Amino acid sequence: MVLSSFGAKLVGESGILRLMDDIGRPLPSGLEACLLGGGNPARIPEVESLYRAEMERLLAERGAFEDAIGRYDAPQGRVSFLEAIADFLRGRYGWDVGPENVAVTNGSQSAFFYLFNLLSGAEPSRRTILFPLVPEYVGYADQGIDHGTFVTLPARHQSFDDRSFKYSIDLDLVDRYLAAHPEVGAICVSRPTNPTGNVLTDAEVAALAALARRSGIPLLVDNAYGVPFPNIIFPDRMGLPDGVEPVPRWEPGIVLSMSLSKIGLPALRSGIVVADRETVSALGALNSIVALASGSLGQVLAEGLVRSGELARVASRAVRPFYRARSEEALAAVREAFSGRDYLVHRSEGSIFLWLCINDLSITSMELYARLKERGVVVVPGEYFFFGLAEGSEEETAWSRHPHRERCVRINYARPIEEVRRGVALIAEESARFSG
Ligand SMILES: Cc1ncc(COP(=O)(O)O)c(C=O)c1O
Repeated sequence: MVLSSFGAKLVGESGILRLMDDIGRPLPSGLEACLLGGGNPARIPEVESLYRAEMERLLAERGAFEDAIGRYDAPQGRVSFLEAIADFLRGRYGWDVGPENVAVTNGSQSAFFYLFNLLSGAEPSRRTILFPLVPEYVGYADQGIDHGTFVTLPARHQSFDDRSFKYSIDLDLVDRYLAAHPEVGAICVSRPTNPTGNVLTDAEVAALAALARRSGIPLLVDNAYGVPFPNIIFPDRMGLPDGVEPVPRWEPGIVLSMSLSKIGLPALRSGIVVADRETVSALGALNSIVALASGSLGQVLAEGLVRSGELARVASRAVRPFYRARSEEALAAVREAFSGRDYLVHRSEGSIFLWLCINDLSITSMELYARLKERGVVVVPGEYFFFGLAEGSEEETAWSRHPHRERCVRINYARPIEEVRRGVALIAEESARFSG
């Protein structure tokens, strides 16, 4: 096959391909698998029973099931679902949004592919996407159709006595970078951050929004794990006083991406984008060309739950406590298994991952990943989360200098806790063979 430049850029080896392949392909038989790799959420009975009840209602109501599966929705999304989302967000946060501000895509992954390529590229003149905090979500890394249009800035990091550490955005650096680089077409952050579990504060989001506004470019905020659903944010771990919660932010100039995946529906591929009308209609136009329309079933199952507020309620009643407890247990497993070793773990403020930095590792995390996989443990190696051109660099390899790049692994702690414990113990055991 003779590939176009689009083909050559997109069909090669990529971190997200490896990760999704690891998720979907069984390990060789005989291995007791610890699947701590890709981003599958936990199965939480209270959430599942809500969808089951919605499905049963759909099946019981004459014609409703057939209506859900038997026709295409509009490329922007199912009209009644767009209305439900807009009504909900207007009612809950007072945002000035209507259905014309909402688009649904086949997972928020495809929303980012659309957005990045709408806002960056080589022609007619080079436009870039600025990621002000790396490590950042591996799924973005290869989404640019043109080469060299993603730029990343090094995060600050601070370590604490309890072997935890935390990244933060160097806002002065972002400010200076934007002032010197008018080609930046958008800023993008995930909040909570995948892979680290970092959660940007309201003040950090406000500061980024102000910088983006000053440059006349959008701020893309990926809220796949955020508030109001799935609400996998732990305010106490962010040092917020009791009862104070981080709030999602939307205003013209912010493109807020949400998803139904981490609240139980990853297989139904339902991403939700809240944005200005122009962006929403561009997403609808692109979706019609790429996909005709997005899948309907996730929207159908979630619509009533969004309207009644139950999806947000179950998120704070069941989803957040589930992951808060699981994060505690996973951290305890790391502390036990790595006792006496030189390691750090990022503060677990949200999302479903621990970001473990094994300082005494003498092989790369990519090599550790391969060795672990042979023992049945799947993780995601740190290298994949450092991508894009580093500031002032023309080399895509510039990130090879980052001290964390080859020392970290991402651990998904959504699997049953015995599996997480077993996996963490094996990570400690295997890495100990190459420590020092
Ligand atoms: C930060 C982040 N953004 C976006 C996505 C894409 O999710 P989906 O396409 O299932 O909505 C993921 C999936 O893991 C993610 O972790």
